[in-house]
Amino acid sequence: MRGSAIVAAAFAALASAAPAARIEERATTPTVYLAGDSTMALGGGGTGTQGWGEYLKYSLSIPVVNKAIAGRSARSYSVEGHFAEIAALVKPEDFVVIEFGHNDGGSLTPTDNGRSDCPGSGDETCNTDVQQDILTYPAYLIDAAKNFTSRGARVVIASPTPDNPWETGTFEYEASRFTTYANQSASGFAHAKFVDHGQLVGNAFQKLGASEVDGFYPNDHTHTSPEGAAIVAQTFVRGVICSKSFLKRHVKNETSSIVGSCL
Ligand SMILES: *[C@@H]1O[C@H](CO)[C@@H](O)[C@H](O)[C@H]1NC(C)=O
Ligand SMILES: *[C@@H]1O[C@H](CO)[C@@H](O)[C@H](O)[C@H]1NC(C)=O
Ligand SMILES: *[C@@H]1O[C@H](CO)[C@@H](O)[C@H](O)[C@H]1NC(C)=O
Repeated sequence: MRGSAIVAAAFAALASAAPAARIEERATTPTVYLAGDSTMALGGGGTGTQGWGEYLKYSLSIPVVNKAIAGRSARSYSVEGHFAEIAALVKPEDFVVIEFGHNDGGSLTPTDNGRSDCPGSGDETCNTDVQQDILTYPAYLIDAAKNFTSRGARVVIASPTPDNPWETGTFEYEASRFTTYANQSASGFAHAKFVDHGQLVGNAFQKLGASEVDGFYPNDHTHTSPEGAAIVAQTFVRGVICSKSFLKRHVKNETSSIVGSCL
């Protein structure tokens, strides 16, 4: 065979192998489940606001089920059984996006509000009059990610969105400890990726400037307007593409049209 014929034969072999693989991939349409707090949830933080989870569907070719619930932390979402509820639903190839932090801080003493995690990043436990064996933020997320990945699902753990970084009039974004914890939580899994959503939103909001971004926070410095939430969702999509999560296969937009750049 001449060189070009050998190449043609090789391509023919590849072409005949490809369709079977693709059919297998398409046998089930994956679903994306979202676990988070009010910054992600339907209805956001009240009138005039919306959670970014409601806008993710516009960028993906697969269904999004928003299971985020206002007021929840990694701890209360776990203890109330919401991760278990998602675990009972996930099928192999599904995705679970986990983003917490806004309700995880605070102290367990003198009053345990049922949301603050045990301080630390390892297997420390805390006891209060509300609950025994309270775990750390990473421990709750790692337990959930183990459950999801053992069922063949893929996980994205994202750092929390920033409070309005233009609040003081001067741009300020500093990652909280939950960014480090989210990164750490994802790091031990072959099928979990970290998205530094907080930094991506920070970068996008820095570019947009104070007056536009102030308008995205109609009620307080945490919850975004629908317009703000749509941008928060777009920056997440940028993060997914940069993270090399399998979820990037399901992004329908042209990469060049998506806001922001990789970190
Ligand atoms: C995993 O999820 C299942 C299904 O909801 C639940 O029954 C089980 O308790 C969970 N296991 C862990 C370790 O979280
Ligand atoms: C996430 O963890 C990786 C690996 O330890 C590290 O290189 C990276 O700087 C971390 N990123 C953030 C935002 O913490
Ligand atoms: C993708 O396009 C849709 C409109 O078709 C838009 O609503 C969405 O925000 C876009 N996503 C990104 C990440 O740019």
